[in-house]
Amino acid sequence: MSTAWEANRRTVLKAAAASAALAQVPAPTAAAAPADTRAAAAESGAEIVLRVNGEQRRLRVENRVTLLDALRERLGLTGTKKGCDRGECGACTVLVDGERIKSCLTLAVMRQNCEITTIEGLADGDRLHPVQAAFIRRDAFQCGGCTPGQIMSAVACIHEGHTGSAEEIREWMSGNLCRCAAYANIVHAVQDAAGEMRR
Ligand code: FES
Ligand code: FES
Repeated sequence: MSTAWEANRRTVLKAAAASAALAQVPAPTAAAAPADTRAAAAESGAEIVLRVNGEQRRLRVENRVTLLDALRERLGLTGTKKGCDRGECGACTVLVDGERIKSCLTLAVMRQNCEITTIEGLADGDRLHPVQAAFIRRDAFQCGGCTPGQIMSAVACIHEGHTGSAEEIREWMSGNLCRCAAYANIVHAVQDAAGEMRR
């Protein structure tokens, strides 16, 4: 064995031991932070106003807070669901200025001065929106986890005019996944509601 190889091996072993020792050092925890530091962190961020379901809602959020978290955790509008939290499932779909968006993919601070509609704002008083009524009539949900997002997406899909056939509805609703596979009944519900909303 060469001397150089042995020296290299010792260096690597020493480095590994140093890393292992570092890993034992506890990371600072939130609990260890002084109370006034934690309070200051909670108070940080911008004060913003969101217009949700026709109401102005004032809240303080850090810039990194998604619209989804602002709606659910700050405004208590938990009808909008969090599925994947990365734009893949559509559970968090809401309308912004009439267009469907995945609220986990946008920041609350970017949506000021917009009209935001969540599932809570869809019915007209006690009267359900035609899409909500059709979902119930057509038995278009099982666990209901995807349902608010499906309904919001369906409302936009109908307004966009993408309901010419079952295939077209499937294509334009394909951003909304249903782990219960209630797809056939969802398509029927969208067809029903589209027919009613055209009348
Ligand atoms: S939670 Fe937003 S797309 Fe899944
Ligand atoms: S009804 Fe369960 S995920 Fe769609």
